[in-house]
Amino acid sequence: MLPLAMRVFVTRKLPGGAIDRLAAEHDVEVWTDQLPPPRDELMARMPAVEGLLSMLTDRVDAELMDAAPRLRAISNYAVGVDNVDVEAATARGLPVGNTPGVLTDTTADLAVALMLGIARRLTAGDAYVRAGQWLSWEPEQLLGRDLHGATVGIVGFGRIGQAVARRLTGFDCTVLHTSRSGGVPLEELLRRSDFVSVHTPLTPQTRGLIGEQALERMKPTAYLVNTSRGPIVDETALVDAVRKGTIAGAGLDVYDEEPLPLDHPLRNLPNTVITPHLGYVTEEGYKIFYGHALEDVKGWLAGQPVRVLKP
Ligand code: GLV
Repeated sequence: MLPLAMRVFVTRKLPGGAIDRLAAEHDVEVWTDQLPPPRDELMARMPAVEGLLSMLTDRVDAELMDAAPRLRAISNYAVGVDNVDVEAATARGLPVGNTPGVLTDTTADLAVALMLGIARRLTAGDAYVRAGQWLSWEPEQLLGRDLHGATVGIVGFGRIGQAVARRLTGFDCTVLHTSRSGGVPLEELLRRSDFVSVHTPLTPQTRGLIGEQALERMKPTAYLVNTSRGPIVDETALVDAVRKGTIAGAGLDVYDEEPLPLDHPLRNLPNTVITPHLGYVTEEGYKIFYGHALEDVKGWLAGQPVRVLKP
């Protein structure tokens, strides 16, 4: 027997055609605005939905779940699930899905791009040419640093951290890592690395992990790269460290508050490359992981066994 059509709310317009497969079986509503649904819009849909396909911009907490008595599955269109209260979902018997494994390489590519971007001064060079400042070739103009041959410290050695390490072997880097099960102590990694790249998930244990003390342990010539979650790095301490020259600079894709507020000091801070949470945003990446998130919702609503995230 075909499963009954159920109501699924998808909190953003997504590229590609995978949504049609879900819509062929279920009653799908997609929030089509450019900005995420405001809280009251999200709450207003909850009484009627059986499936929720949320984005990292949606706060899926106990209040939201309590407003959704018919809800059977939450699929978060991201590998990070810090926007979902997984404990509250588990207590209510709600499976929570994410998209592990499908955006690993795409995010690892961006981490390496940020390393190169900041060390080789790509955005500074681009701005310099566009501003008409390139009047002659000068030997020391926009002097960069090499990634090849450098020591790179990877904080968090899960799928993405390991994918970054694989790429860096091609750059003849010495790769250090910290992880729950091994590697070197964080202090040592910070002290020895020319680049420190953050790849842990955001948890109560990792919030603020790279704070003032950690930044002070880094070399003044070293760069920090973060493609994971903003709050793992203490942003105020980071801005201070770059200003004072405690570290050489930073390449960031994630922030405490996203979008980055207009008056945020990072916007005018030299020696930084800042991108707008582009980690997995490629055509190839979307094709795979978007389908993955949708298939989760479809499968669960059809009563298939689910891969439940542990809180
Ligand atoms: C992106 O930030 C993700 O967690 O998938």
